[in-house]
Amino acid sequence: SAAAADSVGATARTPYQQVRATVTAVLVETFSEVFSAADDPMVTSASRAEFGDYQCNAAMRLGKALQQKPRDVAQRLREALEPRLAGVCQVPLEVAGPGFINFRLTDEFVTATLSRMLRDPRGKLGVPAPAVKQRVVVDFSSPNIAKEMHVGHLRSTIIGDTLCRVLEFLGHRVVRLNHVGDWGTQFGMLIEYMRESAPQALQPGQALELGDLVAFYKRAKQRFDEDPAFQEAARAQVTRLQSGDEEARRAWRALCEQSRREFDRVYQLLDVRIEERGESFYNPYLSEIVRVLEERGLAQEDQGALCVFLEQFTNREGKPQPLIVRKRDGGYMYATTDLAAIRYRVQEDGAQRVLYVTDAGQATHFAQVFQVARRAGLYDPERVSLEHVPFGLVLGEDGKKFKTRSGDTVRLMDLLERAVELARADLVARIAEQPGRQEDEAYIQRAATAIGVGAVKYADLRSSRTADYRFSYEKMLSLSGNTAPYMMYVFSRVSGIARKAAGLPAEAAVEMSELMQRCASSSAQPMVLREAAEQALGRHLMRFGDVLLQLESDLMPHQLCEYLFELSQRFNQFYEQCPVVVGADADERVQQSRLALCALTGAVVQRGLDLLGIQVLPRI
Ligand code: ARG
Repeated sequence: SAAAADSVGATARTPYQQVRATVTAVLVETFSEVFSAADDPMVTSASRAEFGDYQCNAAMRLGKALQQKPRDVAQRLREALEPRLAGVCQVPLEVAGPGFINFRLTDEFVTATLSRMLRDPRGKLGVPAPAVKQRVVVDFSSPNIAKEMHVGHLRSTIIGDTLCRVLEFLGHRVVRLNHVGDWGTQFGMLIEYMRESAPQALQPGQALELGDLVAFYKRAKQRFDEDPAFQEAARAQVTRLQSGDEEARRAWRALCEQSRREFDRVYQLLDVRIEERGESFYNPYLSEIVRVLEERGLAQEDQGALCVFLEQFTNREGKPQPLIVRKRDGGYMYATTDLAAIRYRVQEDGAQRVLYVTDAGQATHFAQVFQVARRAGLYDPERVSLEHVPFGLVLGEDGKKFKTRSGDTVRLMDLLERAVELARADLVARIAEQPGRQEDEAYIQRAATAIGVGAVKYADLRSSRTADYRFSYEKMLSLSGNTAPYMMYVFSRVSGIARKAAGLPAEAAVEMSELMQRCASSSAQPMVLREAAEQALGRHLMRFGDVLLQLESDLMPHQLCEYLFELSQRFNQFYEQCPVVVGADADERVQQSRLALCALTGAVVQRGLDLLGIQVLPRI
């Protein structure tokens, strides 16, 4: 029946989606001459809380198209909308200013939505499953073998992991790929240097111990730069490696393995899962890609190199700029590998969306590669979306490039260990200040790691992705402000309050989700939101799904940080104004509702932090 379909539809949408879909439908019906289903109904969050929850700004544009007064258009729209939004929004709807329509959700709708979040049997806090489950490849982290994994790779790892977590939570199938730089001419130099300095490592069955791989790289480079004979030998090694020579391959594998061990330490500390599929993986497909480009008439010889001349990219003389896909010496390029990777990911992985998380400096590279891939028919832009997800630089506190005091690049492991060390010192000092508080070493270690690593992640994620940000241990580890330690503190405080109100011992090992279930099952009656602070908290909690859906499309994690920070502020106001602990004379229904709000706040903070890759603690 229509009613059943409606209620199914209702649970599969967030409140915002529901209002927006209704406005769209009504616009199509009422103004079909100037509005079609694909048009933007211009429904946004209310610009100010006093205006309600959402607003629609479509009347101004429609007025122009219809040559009518926007206010008259708004009135007609309002009348058509009201019966359709009964029970969802307060009626009459308000027409304001030149023709804005303001929507205020009814209390019943808000409390019903909160109950649904609380009772969601999938444990997804009412966030609807996507209409289309996509297969998404996220290409992130991607450091280079035998080179330092630097802060740019750290940003890519942190941002990429969060995007994966959000997409996974929403219900998409995510393939997390580490496109490590494990192929290229630099390996000739490294292998040749290994022959010189550690020949035993080239023997079959020998474990390789090269010590510091970055120092090894530097020494090899020095040899390469100073000795023409060495250069010659290094080039020969490249050819041997490419033709599958046993010894060269063994050396290459040994180099990769040692790098991998070092990268894995970083991933483990960061709690990041990622599947390695480096550049070398696509090596067998490169000649095929070149053949396709030639077949489609895209690739041309230019001074011995094979190029694709680009549209929209011109050189100084205004001529089309070439993208080199094969060098004069027959070697392939970074871009050629990316073309082969696109084809593989689309055809073999079935990717419908591919995200590339790298620094903004690679924007041109990706724009060019995507263009060539499209023109070569390696993917269908109607069905697959390739997206570069650029990010800004990490700067030191002085606003200059992030470096150690002596001017070297900072080692990621050192950076993370330093954060943990500082977090530990803060924690130990806090424990000493609190009379009667004691923690054992295992807890201190676990907590310091969660806080230190969480602080680094949160500081990165909270600043707008595309902007540069300043790295400051002091700021990121501060217990106040929009930081990980503060948000972790909020969680332990909220969960403590909720436990106390539920009559549970403060230390009980009750998960937030379990507490929520208890609230859901013990409150047979609908929730009540009486005070303004309860209203504000409830309406903010309700927005969680929309924040995630926004993130799904714009890939900007700082919005989630902002949402969580604002949630903590609304919770504080609520807690100041609305006693939660059950009193003898208290209204049972009000108390149950407040307890439910606490449990839901705790669950949303916990889930939100989890999506940012941050663990919560019972005490901080
Ligand atoms: N290895 C590259 C770097 O360190 C990043 C690779 C990004 N992914 C890609 N498919 N190109 O800059």
